Amino acid sequence: MAQYPSYSTLSPPKSQPMASLRGSAATVRLLHSASRVRLSLSSASSSLSISSSSSYSPSSLKCLQFSPLAPHIFKDQKRSSMSTVAAASDPAQLKSAREDIKELLKSKSCHPILVRLGWHDAGTYNKNIEEWPRRGGANGSLRFDIELKHAANAGLVNALKLIQPIKDKYSGVTYADLFQLASATAIEEAGGPKIPMKYGRVDVSAPEECPEEGRLPAAGPPKPADHLREVFYRMGLNDKEIVALSGAHTLGRSRPERSGWGKPETKYTKNGPGAPGGQSWTAEWLKFDNSYFKDIKQRKDDDLLVLPTDAALFEDPSFKEYAEKYAEDQEAFFKDYAEAHAKLSNLGAKFDPKEGIVLDGVAGEKFMAAKYSSGKD
Ligand code: HEM
Repeated sequence: MAQYPSYSTLSPPKSQPMASLRGSAATVRLLHSASRVRLSLSSASSSLSISSSSSYSPSSLKCLQFSPLAPHIFKDQKRSSMSTVAAASDPAQLKSAREDIKELLKSKSCHPILVRLGWHDAGTYNKNIEEWPRRGGANGSLRFDIELKHAANAGLVNALKLIQPIKDKYSGVTYADLFQLASATAIEEAGGPKIPMKYGRVDVSAPEECPEEGRLPAAGPPKPADHLREVFYRMGLNDKEIVALSGAHTLGRSRPERSGWGKPETKYTKNGPGAPGGQSWTAEWLKFDNSYFKDIKQRKDDDLLVLPTDAALFEDPSFKEYAEKYAEDQEAFFKDYAEAHAKLSNLGAKFDPKEGIVLDGVAGEKFMAAKYSSGKD
């Protein structure tokens, strides 16, 4: 593996603009917890009203009144109505946002980086910590500058920039949901399986709630298989899920100026689509299929990337069993990938409503929210 640069040589990008906490259901949630004011969004009505529970405190409502965020919220929610039931995200807005994401994918060919964005928000989950949001996971914390600057997240500020206009348009969609919606939509639009997703993830509200650096996997650790198990088992994922999820590398490229891995360009990347350059794992890196497993197995083409953690999938006996199967059988890969992706997208998330919001009547992982949230938050 001498050809791979050391992960420790990476340096995070010098300057990245602070992601803003604008309008949004995140803010609604923040205000909700501060003042016990419950807001819920509906595009059907043109009025916004506020009700309060018995624990209402006048001083907290005063806070709300003087919050610099408040005017934005009220502006954004002109078309909102109020009920005593709050939800993290609004189903109609989620569906519209999904259409906007499809347009974005068409115009920018940004499927891979949106998948990576969703994965890096969710992949900080630590199953050994019960408390939300300290346990990490799909909670929208990756929108904050402090987390975007973690070395493992190099380049993801570009993904946030791409979807921020969609966030700004839909105040009734949380960042946590938008990241996962964008990722699942990207997989599906690239020709991958339908992911049995659900929504309703609550956002963290401040950078102090971001996880500490170091929860995501490194690409070139001394013992790649052990490292993958250490990191993914901490998330509550198993060997099959590690291998299936690694298959997401059928999409996208690695860029030396971001992660430190890969060639500056290859015959497959020098003309884009999207920004040219980087080294892909597969020749058709905007198409979701099982070619990642075939290519890693064969290793015939120097222009295709194999990270030490990718190579481990055919070296470790337990991983190998799945990797061989997925190289042979795309249907088996799609089935396992879809399940594993949905599970990943729910890690650590706090859902409101607790059972989550299903957009297309795909039940899938219907009860995973209960499994992954303590139910006390
Ligand atoms: C198994 C451990 C993993 C390691 C060590 C790893 C490492 C990496 C690295 C080094 C890059 C290149 C980033 C860059 O230079 O821009 C990358 C890209 C990517 N990763 Fe992973 N990854 C892992 C798992 C995953 C998983 C579980 C997913 C999704 C389910 C995923 C999805 C992606 C995608 C789609 C890209 C391409 C991004 C782009 O083209 O902008 N990875 N990964």
